[in-house]
Amino acid sequence: MEGGSYQWARRLGGRNFGWAAGWSYMWTWTIGVASVSYFMAGLLPPLLGIDPFTVTQQTFVGVALIVLVTLLNMLGPTVLKLVTRLCLVAEVVGSVFLAFVLLLSHREHSLSILTERAGATPHDFAWSGLFLAIALIGYTFSGYESACSMAEEIKDPARHLPKIMIYAVFALGGVTLLSSLALLLAVPDLPKVMLGQVTDPAADTIVAALGAGIAKPFLVLILLAFAATLVASHTTASRVLWSFARDGAVPASEFLVRLSGRSTYPIRCLATIGALSTVVMLSAFSNNPGEDILSLIAAGEKKGVYTRPQAISVAITILLAGHETTLTLITNGLRLFIQHPDQWDLLRTDPDGLAQKAVEECLRMEPSLVGIGRCTTRDVELSSTVIPADDVVYGILATANRDPRVFEAPESFDITRFPNRHVSFGGGIHHCLGAALARLESQIAFAALAKRFERFELAQPTIDYLPDMFVHFMHQPTELNVAW
Ligand code: HEM
Repeated sequence: MEGGSYQWARRLGGRNFGWAAGWSYMWTWTIGVASVSYFMAGLLPPLLGIDPFTVTQQTFVGVALIVLVTLLNMLGPTVLKLVTRLCLVAEVVGSVFLAFVLLLSHREHSLSILTERAGATPHDFAWSGLFLAIALIGYTFSGYESACSMAEEIKDPARHLPKIMIYAVFALGGVTLLSSLALLLAVPDLPKVMLGQVTDPAADTIVAALGAGIAKPFLVLILLAFAATLVASHTTASRVLWSFARDGAVPASEFLVRLSGRSTYPIRCLATIGALSTVVMLSAFSNNPGEDILSLIAAGEKKGVYTRPQAISVAITILLAGHETTLTLITNGLRLFIQHPDQWDLLRTDPDGLAQKAVEECLRMEPSLVGIGRCTTRDVELSSTVIPADDVVYGILATANRDPRVFEAPESFDITRFPNRHVSFGGGIHHCLGAALARLESQIAFAALAKRFERFELAQPTIDYLPDMFVHFMHQPTELNVAW
């Protein structure tokens, strides 16, 4: 037998059938690369003893694993053979060991649970011997035909490939079957598993039988097993792509089919599969947004609420308008309190009661946005000056906040000032969307600081401000070092 699913489907069913079969086969393995990398990334935190990854972190670690396997695969057959052998030996030795330990000393059930419902659930679905058989056979004996996709790189494939497949099915499939059986017979609380109350029955069973100490070595074992699957999936998909390219059946066939230098290795196809699985991983990620605001905006774009440029613009606005401004208010406000210790003492007499007015006064004295820009759409008359259409106008909010016609003693910092009609959040239809949030955040921050710290002092000789104030209108210190 030479060649794998694509070649055989083409030989037996004709060109079109071969193409359809090969195409789905190639994508199955490519998606496999993405999903195995993602799964492997999820195993790292418990192994390293760190907090579980967020979806974003797991996705990016998954992408790093795809890059790694692509580079490894590009190093050539010797490295590939070595890595695969190492992983397989670890997997086989570990699985057999585990199976024997479980079967000999931690068996909880008899073999009859394979054919009976074992009282696991009162319902008639799922737990039947037939279902179990399908699950085991489908899971255990799939994928071993993939070795055939390397037919052209093996000497005398007609003799060697069937041997490899028989070895794979009987040895590796057998080992998987044995360890699955051992695990199944050792499950401590089968009804709980059947009711879906145990999230990871395999790990749970092993920990129950062998103690938590064994869980880490077992995780290493699973990782190695998946590493072997990852390498194999990547190799197979790249070989199917190369066969397609040789038959001129994919775009850019001429580019893909070329082997670099004296190499007999389809490096370009390996890189392409790496790139395709990364795209699969990232698009799965963008289709599964979290509950944060950026994910909400991304979901809005998918639903057609925003165009792509609108979504990006809203995301940047929220990020800059929502984060930098409040951060700047708290920083500048703290500086004001350092310069006016009497007002800090006053705030400390009633932090919760005075925080609200104190924040308004910080906003008045030090508006995070010093000014706002507008473009005129028509001629505008303002204070007996005509501003022509299509001109740019800057309104300086900081100046308005110190207008002596509105504020008494505008230059003094007074946290009991009331009313305090500053314009630091703008006005009209563009009045700040996050004003309430910014107020709340700053009130909480200042009240908490006042409750905890008696006095702050500046721990740097001067304060430097970001230079681009007239571009972004942000009055933002580069840093504020304080001592207490
Ligand atoms: C101390 C904190 C803040 C200050 C001083 C501030 C200031 C301003 C000002 C002056 C404007 C009007 C801009 C204009 O008319 O061109 C504005 C608009 C806006 N702010 Fe804030 N902001 C703050 C916090 C926030 C927060 C926390 C958010 C969101 C979470 C936010 C979101 C926005 C948005 C989306 C707009 C645009 C509204 C529109 O154009 O309709 N801001 N902000």
